[in-house]
Amino acid sequence: MAADLSRGQYLVEALAACDNCHTPRGPDGYNLSARFSGGAQTFTGKDYVARGSNISPDKETGVGGWSDEALSAAIVAGLGRDGQLAPAMPADSYRALTNADRRAIIAFLRAQPAVKAQPAAQPQRNGAWTPHPAPGAEAAFDEAALSDRIKRGLYIASIARCLACHSAEVDDAPDFVNGLGAGGKIFRMAAGVAVASNITAHPDKGVGAWSDDELKRAITQGVSRKGAALKPPMSTLAKAHFAKISPEDLDALISYLRTLPPKE
Ligand code: HEC
Ligand code: HEC
Repeated sequence: MAADLSRGQYLVEALAACDNCHTPRGPDGYNLSARFSGGAQTFTGKDYVARGSNISPDKETGVGGWSDEALSAAIVAGLGRDGQLAPAMPADSYRALTNADRRAIIAFLRAQPAVKAQPAAQPQRNGAWTPHPAPGAEAAFDEAALSDRIKRGLYIASIARCLACHSAEVDDAPDFVNGLGAGGKIFRMAAGVAVASNITAHPDKGVGAWSDDELKRAITQGVSRKGAALKPPMSTLAKAHFAKISPEDLDALISYLRTLPPKE
């Protein structure tokens, strides 16, 4: 159980970044006294308006009354209490979770304080969304796969959503066939606009010429190759989450990124 909890904490904090959408923010970052009681950001797509829900163990307003199966279905299949969740919940990226890691995440969530908080608004959903898991990360990994360095790197890149954010998009969906890691997705935030970079092994358009240390610094500190601060959401994720990625996982992630076929 204890091992489960620390693994769950690692997955949630370093990789899956659940707080990013499910924990309110104050002036100094996440408001951890209301952890998992619902996110500050509203996600708007063509067919939905949704906010990260209360996933604290409160029975009435959170997910305390949900079974493990129901929680699993939300996390890896994007199924909520009344059908498909809006695709802002990145279940496609979490499909790869091993059974043990999925259980560890649920155990960690259940061990947090219950926070009573009603949603600010009910989600609106009028669509049916096709799942878009990354190639090779369409189904739960088994433990054996994680001892293969490149597969482990893909596992991390899926769960940390590197591939979902950094692939080219067609019709609001990642184009993994033609644009895996090629960048181009646009993020419009209060802080301004950012365009996801090309993280393929292309020598000039991508990160092919970057050293391992330069890549690690970008991922864990949010700093560009030249040393300038990267923009959110990358800088925020780097500092609040990816900074906690273990050295072994970081090495595996970088080995995997080096295998991404160069794209312009
Ligand atoms: C990029 C933002 C984002 C991240 C990261 C994220 N979620 Fe979500 N999640 C959402 C949104 C938005 C919804 C609500 C979708 C809707 O109402 O259709 C949601 C819904 C859920 C639900 C369903 C709750 C309910 O009341 O219906 C669960 C459970 C959940 N998320 C768990 C998690 C866990 C666990 C993680 C980390 C492993 C996580 N989420 C990471 C955005 C996110
Ligand atoms: C929520 C979307 C999102 C996620 C998740 C994300 N990134 Fe990024 N990333 C971006 C954006 C946007 C930029 C561009 C920032 C800028 O222009 O300053 C960026 C920049 C970068 C850069 C700098 C590239 C350059 O040319 O300067 C690297 C390297 C990078 N990301 C790697 C990763 C890796 C590896 C992961 C997974 C561990 C990841 N990112 C997860 C959105 C994301």
